[in-house]
Amino acid sequence: MAFPIRNTQSRYGWIAILLHWLIGLLLIGQIVLGLAMVRVTSQRTAFELIQLHKSLGFLLLGLVMLRLGWRLANAAPRLPAGTGRLERRAAPAAHVALYALQLLLPLTGWALVSASVLEIPSMPFDLFVMPNLPVAISDEDEAWWRALHAYLAYAAIALVAVHVLAALRHHFRLGDNVLARMISPSRQRDDTEPE
Ligand code: HEM
Ligand code: HEM
Repeated sequence: MAFPIRNTQSRYGWIAILLHWLIGLLLIGQIVLGLAMVRVTSQRTAFELIQLHKSLGFLLLGLVMLRLGWRLANAAPRLPAGTGRLERRAAPAAHVALYALQLLLPLTGWALVSASVLEIPSMPFDLFVMPNLPVAISDEDEAWWRALHAYLAYAAIALVAVHVLAALRHHFRLGDNVLARMISPSRQRDDTEPE
């Protein structure tokens, strides 16, 4: 097919590829923005940046739900033949953990603003008012969600670093098509094991 949409056993289709890079960029951007905005001294700038962080976070949550649905309906390609035993276990576990983080990061962010006694409404891109999550509202609850949100972000930094190093190792050390197949479905060389 000229424009393969779905994944097969040997390659990713365009939907999985586009969602991977769009969400990956947004997630890294959100981490950088999050770390920067809590360090800005101007109250006004901090407020504006937090509203942008919330909007992008809600956009990400929507994209992640689409991605999760697509992934459940589309098995991922198999690993290349010759992949070691450890990686056969570690790779799927790391991917599940990345999916969990993509979902839990925006949800805990949403919970933290919902728990705030300030009750500042969330208005994604000034389009509509996003309702709050039904969580308890108090300074202690907000602090708890905020800590969880921050720890999950630190965990994501570590896991994404390992993930990127693993992808680079496949490309430059092992010379297989694991990175290439996340760039375009037309990189057709099939390194996967025969059935
Ligand atoms: C994948 C999505 C997200 C990522 C990666 C992310 C990441 C971060 C990071 C790294 C911080 C700084 C933590 C610190 O060092 O204290 C932060 C803070 C914050 N995030 Fe997110 N976030 C995401 C989504 C959201 C969403 C959807 C909301 C709300 C709707 C949100 C609300 C906040 C708020 C209000 C803070 C500031 C907390 C404070 O005042 O200390 N985040 N986020
Ligand atoms: C920016 C550098 C990144 C590179 C070079 C990269 C590379 C890759 C590659 C090559 C694969 C395919 C693995 C395979 O064929 O089995 C993959 C899958 C995956 N990546 Fe990334 N990635 C990056 C960023 C991210 C980020 C920031 C996230 C976090 C949201 C992420 C989440 C995932 C997930 C969940 C999968 C599994 C996809 C599936 O099978 O459904 N990646 N990545």
